Amino acid sequence: MFITFEGPDGSGKSTIIKELHKKLIDEGYNILLTREPGGTPISEKIRDIILDNNNTNLDYRTEALLYAASRRQHLVEKIWPALKRGQIVLCDRYLDSSLAYQGGARKLGIKNILDINLFATENTYPDLTIFFDVSPEVGLSRLSQDKKRVADRLDNESENFHQEVYETFKKVCDMYPDRIVKIDASKSISEVLNETYTIIKKKLNELR
Ligand code: TYD
Repeated sequence: MFITFEGPDGSGKSTIIKELHKKLIDEGYNILLTREPGGTPISEKIRDIILDNNNTNLDYRTEALLYAASRRQHLVEKIWPALKRGQIVLCDRYLDSSLAYQGGARKLGIKNILDINLFATENTYPDLTIFFDVSPEVGLSRLSQDKKRVADRLDNESENFHQEVYETFKKVCDMYPDRIVKIDASKSISEVLNETYTIIKKKLNELR
C-alpha cells in the first residue's frame, strides 16, 4: 500500500505524518516513512539544488524536471523495493505537489506536468492520498510562527503563488475523487491526526 500526503506549506502535514507513523508502528505495521523531494542520497542532492535560495535563476521547466527526476530515483531505490517487500509506504508529498506547484503556480499546465511525471513514475499512482486542506493565509501564518524553520526557495514565493498552489490542489482533488481524501487541516493537530488515522485504518482493513 502506497499512501501519500499533500497540502500547502504550513498545513501541519509533516507533524501529523510523524505521529501517525509512530501510532501505526506501535500497532505492529511494517512501515516505511519517506519524503519528497529527497529520500535517497541522489534525490537529496537534487532537493538541495531545487530548494537552494541562491538558485534564483532556476528555470521553471528545469525545476519541474528536477522534481520528476528526484521522484523517479526515490521510486527506484526506495519506494518500489519497499512495496515489493510488502511494506506500507507513507510518503510526505508526491506527484500531486508537482501538479499544484509546477503545473498550477508556475503555470506550466497540469497536463504537461502530469505527462512528465507519468513518464518518470511509469504510471505509479498512490493507492491513497490524504490532502491537508488549509488556506494559504493560515498555512503561511503557521510557518511564520515557527521560529526554527528556515524559509526555502519555495516558501519565499509570493502570496499569490501560494494561493495558486492551493487553488490547483483543489482542482487536483476533483480530478481524483476516488484516490484523494480531503481533511480540514485548520483544526487542531490531534483532531487532524485522528481523522487521518481513521481513514488510513479503514483502507488497511479493506485490504485485509
Ligand atoms: P519541504 O521543506 O519538504 O516542504 P514541506 O515541509 O512543506 O513538505 O519543501 C518542499 C517544497 O517543495 C515545498 O514548498 C513544496 C515544493 N514541491 C514542489 O514544488 N513540487 C513537488 O513536486 C514537490 C514534491 C514539492
